[in-house]
Parts: sequence; structure tokens; C-alpha cells
Amino acid sequence: MDNKLKNKFEEIYGAGGEIRFFAAAGRVNLIGEHIDYCGGKVLPAGLNLKCVVAARLRSDKVVNLAATTIGDRVSLDIGKLGDYRELKWGNYQAGMAYMMQGAGYDVPAMDLLYDCDVPFGSGLSSSAAIEVATGVTIALMGRKGGNKEKEKRELTAEELVKIAVLAQKAENEYAGVSCGIMDQFASAMAKKDCAILLDCATLEYSYNPLKLGDYRLVIANSNKRRSLAEGKYNERRSECEEGLAVLKSKLPNIQNLSDVTPKDLQKYEGLLPPVVRQRVTHVVGECVRVADSVKALAKGKIAEFGELLNQSHYSLRDLYEVTGVELDTLTHLARTHKGCIGSRMTGAGFGGCTVSLVHKDSVADFVENVGKTYEQKVGLKADFYDTSIEDGARELL
Ligand code: GLA
Repeated sequence: MDNKLKNKFEEIYGAGGEIRFFAAAGRVNLIGEHIDYCGGKVLPAGLNLKCVVAARLRSDKVVNLAATTIGDRVSLDIGKLGDYRELKWGNYQAGMAYMMQGAGYDVPAMDLLYDCDVPFGSGLSSSAAIEVATGVTIALMGRKGGNKEKEKRELTAEELVKIAVLAQKAENEYAGVSCGIMDQFASAMAKKDCAILLDCATLEYSYNPLKLGDYRLVIANSNKRRSLAEGKYNERRSECEEGLAVLKSKLPNIQNLSDVTPKDLQKYEGLLPPVVRQRVTHVVGECVRVADSVKALAKGKIAEFGELLNQSHYSLRDLYEVTGVELDTLTHLARTHKGCIGSRMTGAGFGGCTVSLVHKDSVADFVENVGKTYEQKVGLKADFYDTSIEDGARELL
């Protein structure tokens, strides 16, 4: 496999033994933002940006962690996996190992080296990629008995979904971030050249081939740090819960906020406090936009999809209030570029990345000019990634 990573591994841990490689994807969410924890449908896709883990079994009782990008080293005692909640680096790995163990997986003693090119804090889910890659590593390295090659190295979709759910649990209960299921699910289950239509209430999903014709997805990092983002994220979640509680009193059959139709909302919005009404209006509208996007993509109506991306951004800006000057400027500049037919923030917001639909002949010019003007206006340099839509978690052979 990857010789550079293998060499680095041997430099840190010494040579010898079988080294295996596992990966999980970063993700871009195409549409359906702040919808997963409201029980609705989202449309993420896996990226070529990913977390790769090089792994080798040990014969004692520890899991050693190292990374290619930072110098930190951590050693986890397999008998005390619950004790590492305060770790800064290594928290996601420890949390995942703890949850896997709790779910009955045997966590083997291992040396692990992480190589993650999903930019941190960018809204492309580096944390989910680390968690899911750790889960897959544990599941396959700890597997006993399977002497058939395929059995030893492959996880079924069912197992991958289980790992995604455990990864979300690690993030919620170990790292203390109350995220939904979208990122971990996408990181585990992504499929090359497809978007995943995921129902976050039932975890039913389908793969929708992403045929964008002459258009390309361009991902740009605003490089605005997401400070305060976590508090605001939790605040949005509780505003949605408040909205659901009020609407449930009138609509007893609804389970989730995503079950509220535009007609229901029109009828009962007067009962909601102004800010909560804004948040709920975003959620209800975004659910409709996800359904419309799926239809538009299936019919090859790319321009229509692009417009839905714009509308999603406006709603996140004006109603949900999770954008900010950097994301608003970057998407605005994108939209005013002649080759671009739609642009929005992706992920939690408050900073991080945007996704734009750009004509293939305009991509180079888009990157140059949008980047230049963004820097002039905001004073930050945006990064543009050369991305493709790829598979989720797997062993790299
Ligand atoms: C973050 C969370 C996800 C989701 C998005 C917003 O990425 O981890 O669960 O809520 O924000 O859509």
C-alpha cells in the first residue's frame, strides 16, 4: 500500500510484523443542513479527503496512538478506556475504542498511526473520519477465526452502520459534542460517485448517483475558525426541541420536527416564539429542498439543484443564523462568478467550508478569482480542494 505511511510507521514503532491500512472518508453535505438531529433526510457524500490508519497488533494490553501531522503520542490502557475523556488529541480514538468495547468488540493491543488529510475544523468531518476509521480498525484487527480472506478484511453494510452509530455515541458521550448521525454515517457508508439519501430518523438510506453533467463540486474552506460554534450548535438543537414540543401539542402524530409540513407550520407558527419560529421555518423548508434536490438530480436538472443550494444558504443565513460574514462573502462571490450555478455553506456553519457547483471549464478561473476577491474583502485566504466523491470506510488493500 502506502509506502510513505509504512515507512513512517516503522520509524515510530519499529519494523516487522503485518501492517494493515484502514480508511474512513471526510464528507461534504450537499443539502439538508441542521436536519439530522431533527429526524429528517440529508444528502451527504464521501470525499477523497480521508483518515487512514496504519495498524499492527501488539502482544500486551495497550493501544498506542501517533499521527503523521502532529508529534503527540498517546498510550491507551485497554482495561481503562473510560479514563481518557480529558485527552485533547486522542480523545476521538479513545472514545471510539471505549464504545466499541462496550458494544462487545474485542479491542486488540495495537500500534496505530493516523494520517488524516481532512482539514480540522473545516466542516468536512475530520472527527467522524477519525472515529469511524478507528472503529473499522478495531472491528477488523480484532476479528477472530475468519480465515477466509474476504471474511477477514470486509465489513458488511450492517456492521458499518453499527460502527457509525457507535462513533456518534463516542462523539456525544465521550467527546461531549451533541452532533447528529449524518457525519459518521456518511464517513462509514459513502459510495463512489454517489450521494447518500439518509433518513436520520430510521437510518434507511439509498445511494443516488451524482451525475452533474458539465458541472463540478468545488469545496472551499473559508478558514474562519469555528470558535463558539459548539455552544451555538447546542443552542440551535434546543430551539428545535422547543419548537417540536409546542407543535406536538397541536400535531400529536408528529415524532420529529422534520414531520411538520409547510401547511402545518402555516397554521400553527403563531404559537412559536419569534426565534424558534425562524429555526422551525428553516427546518421545514430545508426538508422540502432535500426532496426537491433528489428529484432535480434524478432528472439531470442541475441548474435547479444549484438554485436549491442557494436557497439553502439563504435560509441558513437569515433564519437559522449559522453562517457569518466569511461564509456569506465566499458564497456570494461564488454565485457572482459566471461559471457557478449555486453555492452554500456545508456542515455546522459559523466557519468552515462552502460547496459550489461550477462549470468544468470555469473551475480554474473560479478558484483564482473567488479566492483573490475573498482575501481582499475578508482578509483570510481560502483553500480550495481538489475533491472527488469516494467510498466510505474500508480496509485499503
Ligand atoms: C455537524 C454535525 C452534524 C450535523 C451538521 C449540520 O456536522 O456533526 O450531525 O448536524 O453539523 O447539518
